[in-house]
Amino acid sequence: MLRGSKVGLRARHEEDIPILHAELYDDVVNTSRAVGQPWRPITPGSKDGQFVVDDKAQGLASFSVVDLDSGALVGTATLWGIDNHNRSAHIGLGLLPSARGKGYGTDVVAVLCHYGFVVRGLHRLQIETLSDNTAMLRSAERNGFVREGVMRASAWVMGEFLDEVLLGLLVEDWKPQSAG
Ligand SMILES: CC(C)(COP(=O)(O)OP(=O)(O)OC[C@H]1O[C@@H](n2cnc3c(N)ncnc32)[C@H](O)[C@@H]1OP(=O)(O)O)[C@@H](O)C(=O)NCCC(=O)NCCS
Repeated sequence: MLRGSKVGLRARHEEDIPILHAELYDDVVNTSRAVGQPWRPITPGSKDGQFVVDDKAQGLASFSVVDLDSGALVGTATLWGIDNHNRSAHIGLGLLPSARGKGYGTDVVAVLCHYGFVVRGLHRLQIETLSDNTAMLRSAERNGFVREGVMRASAWVMGEFLDEVLLGLLVEDWKPQSAG
């Protein structure tokens, strides 16, 4: 397990999946805002669900996020689009509603930076998020990510096109926290 100051990032367990489906995925608006794909119903137990991890998949590392003190599941974290030639990857995360606004998101980004830069030897990490997602923007900026541009009307979300902000962090600008 990877450890931050509040969260641990561990492998996905079978019993995490129904909780993530009920509390995260089945919120159609939040999923539509966070995922960049159309929401569709997924049958419980389906092997195609977005939280089912294929350990052999290249270019992707999927974690469940737990509270370090209690061990309770609080969300998901992903390093995706891992490109070993350009040594870059993208960060994604989603917390259960009850876990938001308590500093977990900032800590998850810190741990994913440690994983990307130290464990995987990457040079650049990138985040794309809706321009009104203040909590995600702040979680990224707290970890040293800088806004590199706005992708105008790039996301179709619940009936309208919204802008996304592109943020990047280079390893030489990264100031490691206590993650390890
Ligand atoms: C986005 C998300 C991961 C952020 O994690 P979080 O634990 O809620 O964020 P934190 O508690 O670490 O807060 C980070 C900062 O955002 C601020 N913040 C938190 N929630 C906020 C809200 N609803 N509105 C405005 N600011 C907010 C905090 O005050 C903090 O600011 P500071 O650094 O200036 O003190 C989480 O809210 C979430 O899972 N949201 C739904 C899914 C999602 O949007 N995922 C990202 C898709 S790209």
